[in-house]
Amino acid sequence: MSDTNHSHSTHDAEEDVRNRDIKIYVNGDIVHRDEAKVSVYDSGFMLGDGMWEGMRLYNGKWAFFDEHMDRLYNSCKSVSIDIGLSKEELLEAMNRTAAANHMTEDAHCRLMITRGRKAKPFQHPGLSRFGPTIVIIVEHSKPKSSLHSAGIRLATVPQVRGLPMSQDAKYNSHSKLNCVIACLQAEQAGADEALMLDPNGFVNTTNACNFFIVRRGEVWTSTGDYCMNGVTRQKVIDLCRQDGIPVFEKNYSLYEAYGADEAFLTGTFGAQTPVASIDGKAIGTGERPVMARLQQLYKALVRENTAG
Ligand SMILES: Cc1ncc(COP(=O)(O)O)c(C=O)c1O
Repeated sequence: MSDTNHSHSTHDAEEDVRNRDIKIYVNGDIVHRDEAKVSVYDSGFMLGDGMWEGMRLYNGKWAFFDEHMDRLYNSCKSVSIDIGLSKEELLEAMNRTAAANHMTEDAHCRLMITRGRKAKPFQHPGLSRFGPTIVIIVEHSKPKSSLHSAGIRLATVPQVRGLPMSQDAKYNSHSKLNCVIACLQAEQAGADEALMLDPNGFVNTTNACNFFIVRRGEVWTSTGDYCMNGVTRQKVIDLCRQDGIPVFEKNYSLYEAYGADEAFLTGTFGAQTPVASIDGKAIGTGERPVMARLQQLYKALVRENTAG
């Protein structure tokens, strides 16, 4: 990285020493993180054969829990992973994990479901004979405030989002190699995160978040065909519609991204994170009125969704 002092990732959190002693859920047990272990035969470890969700705790409630569960159960069904627990049982397990850590706010959960432990170290899903592996990590987590002042520097990268008939980008799978390669390429270009194109060369998404631009008061994002069906992405689109902000899911190129007035990323962790530059080109003037309005609306929506 060219300037490590300035480097960010969209998932930079304030350092919190309490995370050194958190308790983690592993297949029904809640144990100290040093004791939280899965088998080296686990399908997630061997093959990236599993699905996960990132969720945040506000006021003791998981924001947009139903939407996250819809995505998770849909993904697991599509790849024939039997979670073996109902949504209510998963909620209970997540709540139990948060309670064991005395968390009600500023906490981020990674819920992971893999096809489970295999009988032999080979690929065939039938070898995963011991039920799913379910792990719930909840960390104390507050996005770094500097993310919001400085903004993220993006670089476009050679790695693209693929067609849905290879590995559909809608799978939040344990295998994130496509995204990891993109992130490495962005780092090599001196940026914080990768801006990825679709197979036709249109601007699509970043390696870890969904991507939006603002042009002349209009909010644009990709068609959604090649990116994660982000919960935050959909909330931002819905909020635009409710608030009378013109919003379009459409193809557009780097030409329009470079010339945007504002650009921002969306994801459960950072909500809306401003983009400072793309390929070294500053985006707009640094004034971000549309993103700021959406941040306000999103905060209010989270409060409503997680109210007592
Ligand atoms: C590649 C990718 N894009 C976007 C997102 C953001 O999705 P969400 O808003 O549901 O957190 C994620 C989060 O898991 C992701 O992995």
